[in-house]
Amino acid sequence: MNIAVNPDDHAVHPTIYLKDYQPPVFGVSTIDLDIRIHETETLVVSTLEMQRLHAGELVLLGRDLELLNVQLNGSDLAPSSYSLDKETLTILNAPDQCTVKTEVRIHPENNTQLEGLYKSGGMYCTQNEPEGFRKITFFPDRPDVLAVYTTRLEADNQYPTLLANGNLIEAGQVGGDRHYTIWQDPTKKPSYLFACVAGDLAVLKDSFTTMEGKPVALEIYTEEKDIEKCHVAMQALKDSMLWDEEHYGRAYDLDNYMIVAVSQFNMGAMENKGLNIFNTSCVLSSPETSTDASNFYVKSTIAHEYFHNWTGNRITCRDWFQLCLKEGFTVFRDQSFSDTLQSPAVQRIDDVSSLKSAQFAEDAGPLSHPPRPDHFVEINNFYTATVYDKGAEIVRMMATLLGEENFRLGTDEYFRRHDGEAVTVEDLIGSLSDGSGTDLWNFLPWYSQPGTPVVTGQGIYDAETRRYTLTLSQSIPKKPNYPAPQPLPIPVKIALFNQQTGQPLLLDAQGETETVLMLNQSKQVFVFEHISSQPIVSLLRDFSAPVLLNFDYQDQELAFLMQYETNGFNQWQAAQQLLERILLQGHDASAYLEALLVTLPKVASVDPLLASRLLDIPTETFIASRIDSNYDPVAVRSTRETLMNAIAAELKDFWSASYAALPIVPYADTSEAMGQRALRNAVLAFASRAGVADALTHASQQYDAAVCMTERLGALRQLVNYDAVDHDAKLADFYQRFENEALAIDLWFGLQASKPNATIGEITRLSQHPQFDLNTPNRVRSITGNFATNPVAVWTTEGAQFYVNLAKTLDAKNPILGSRILQVLSRWYTLKEPLRTQVKAVIDGLQGQVTSSSVVETLANLQKA
Ligand code: PHE
Ligand code: ZN
Repeated sequence: MNIAVNPDDHAVHPTIYLKDYQPPVFGVSTIDLDIRIHETETLVVSTLEMQRLHAGELVLLGRDLELLNVQLNGSDLAPSSYSLDKETLTILNAPDQCTVKTEVRIHPENNTQLEGLYKSGGMYCTQNEPEGFRKITFFPDRPDVLAVYTTRLEADNQYPTLLANGNLIEAGQVGGDRHYTIWQDPTKKPSYLFACVAGDLAVLKDSFTTMEGKPVALEIYTEEKDIEKCHVAMQALKDSMLWDEEHYGRAYDLDNYMIVAVSQFNMGAMENKGLNIFNTSCVLSSPETSTDASNFYVKSTIAHEYFHNWTGNRITCRDWFQLCLKEGFTVFRDQSFSDTLQSPAVQRIDDVSSLKSAQFAEDAGPLSHPPRPDHFVEINNFYTATVYDKGAEIVRMMATLLGEENFRLGTDEYFRRHDGEAVTVEDLIGSLSDGSGTDLWNFLPWYSQPGTPVVTGQGIYDAETRRYTLTLSQSIPKKPNYPAPQPLPIPVKIALFNQQTGQPLLLDAQGETETVLMLNQSKQVFVFEHISSQPIVSLLRDFSAPVLLNFDYQDQELAFLMQYETNGFNQWQAAQQLLERILLQGHDASAYLEALLVTLPKVASVDPLLASRLLDIPTETFIASRIDSNYDPVAVRSTRETLMNAIAAELKDFWSASYAALPIVPYADTSEAMGQRALRNAVLAFASRAGVADALTHASQQYDAAVCMTERLGALRQLVNYDAVDHDAKLADFYQRFENEALAIDLWFGLQASKPNATIGEITRLSQHPQFDLNTPNRVRSITGNFATNPVAVWTTEGAQFYVNLAKTLDAKNPILGSRILQVLSRWYTLKEPLRTQVKAVIDGLQGQVTSSSVVETLANLQKA
């Protein structure tokens, strides 16, 4: 065993390695749980039927449990027959078949870490992925031990709703003031998918009949006051159930599907078998209180958790190193589902921009890891953009290569082979290969190599031979402690355009205008014959691989693609490439501005949603992720501001005309209406920047006339950012209007925290507001996440200290959240001096002050950057 933290740290946490995986010594066929909830304690009795699978000791895992009694085959065990330490209970000399019964006392009423059984608001709920179940009872808490669960829940009558996974088989009173329910889940599942809830909740009911003719009762539980905000989620659930039948042939298997909304939750949502638990932010939606972005996120999260029923629950992970097996595949599935909610081009734009800003940045810093890590200290630190989003990109590349039909044959084979099993990434690749008849094993290294590959190249046209020669090469950054990187298979989707006509060229006799080149060596040459004039190549269409592209384009060629590309994603990508040159390499903005001036009005008139995305300018944090040393946040801000001002000025007439052409209309939840709202807000932002006469008056009017949150918040943002005379009054109005809507108040905090010129003093004041609450992750993130978009203020001694202080406070209270907050500082080492030394000193100040495995591991990673 290795110790992964600085040797002078008080807390030591062992590193766990994938290569050390050992199958479980004992299996569990059934578990009977009896959970009795009281205000000041909860008693948990669990009875496990265990069978030996391999030689070794019978070890159960437990954390923060007070052991009251332990029995083996019906008799109390003397202390000499078992051994107990901080994390394990070992039954000495256990027979090959045995019944182990334990009784423990736990304290969910004091559990602020939001793992295991805890209290959120007035209700009890659970969060057991990845290793929370061991905080409820002693169990072999690992994903490859699958058991059938029966759960008895008992609580005071003030908690009328008592839920657990599976079917309700009994309910009744216990004396005058307590009651119970008994639930049986017929499917075998790992402990991380166990859930239970006790509360006083309203329920929205609906139903769905599967393609197999099975009726399923659908129920969404939330506080009474929010029940009307559950309709969007309910519709999305039904849409997802149908989509999985139509696209993957997968039907739902239980008689009921329940979702419970909780306000204190570390993540977005959790796919517990038949009983999902959702952060309120991912299930509640109403036009008045939610933005279009959050309404969209509700739908895609509902889909994500539902899709886990097959990719995650019925086929689960052998061990936590395989996390991307369920998460990457499921993200790919929810992204594909979302193609039905907005145009596929914009869906791809949104997925790629978050991949580039979050995952590429992560992979460029000290937290870089492969989609399947080979070691970790704290698995909670690995629910990352790399595991989720790069994991999804790998599945997407294989799907692209196979094509729809063959990919379906591959996934059918995966479900056929592995239903009911706990498997590995190899099992997925093996099934996809065998099912489709295409060998995909060369994709395996994508799972084990960290870093973003860079594809470089150039194209040469020879008029005499009418030949276009494209040379592409790949390089993958070498990371410390990893072997020298091997070339990866990189599908590069391309088209060639005729410069004179603006039309794509035919690439074969079948009339195809697009082809996928397979770059799987360090350098390769691709030759195109019968090309009548110098073409312009469009590379990496649809972002066919998660790589950085460094092709030797002329700026004019990218400007050409901005105008003539036939697919919205590629148009956006050409603009982004041009913008990156302006922002990172100091290129002149004129080619971009000219192209935008002709392209934007055209796109705006046919596809406002796409037009709004064409106005995306790479964020300061994304730009920073591409600068590896001597990073000066103030200089980056100023370059970006200069560009934004130039865009604002260049299109000044367009902003006025376009704003006038986009009046507020009654709310509709459609892609078209979303596009109009998105474009109106983007236009308003540029108009305010350009100083267009009356822009802020329009913002003020838009705030008052708004029919939905997207309009109200978009207007308020400009009033605040540009210090309009009425901005304080409007902020106060907003607060009053939504005082009892926690998610809207999160937006109120977030808007102020993301103000570009916010000072650390203002941020500190926000965090001292009476409604700021360290026990509610959504509220904490509303400040920490939004303030992180302001590197000029974050990268100061005081800014870094703000994050370090929070990480220190949260180290005991909620280490998962504390660790994530600390990650904001991961690229400190790229700063120019003296900032670099100053910020490092602040980070080093945490040394010896934190003890949780989550925060300690992150701190150690930051320090060794
Ligand atoms: N498995 C959840 C999802 O992606 C995420 C999650 C992880 C939630 C850990 C809580 C804790 O759907
Ligand atoms: Zn997931």
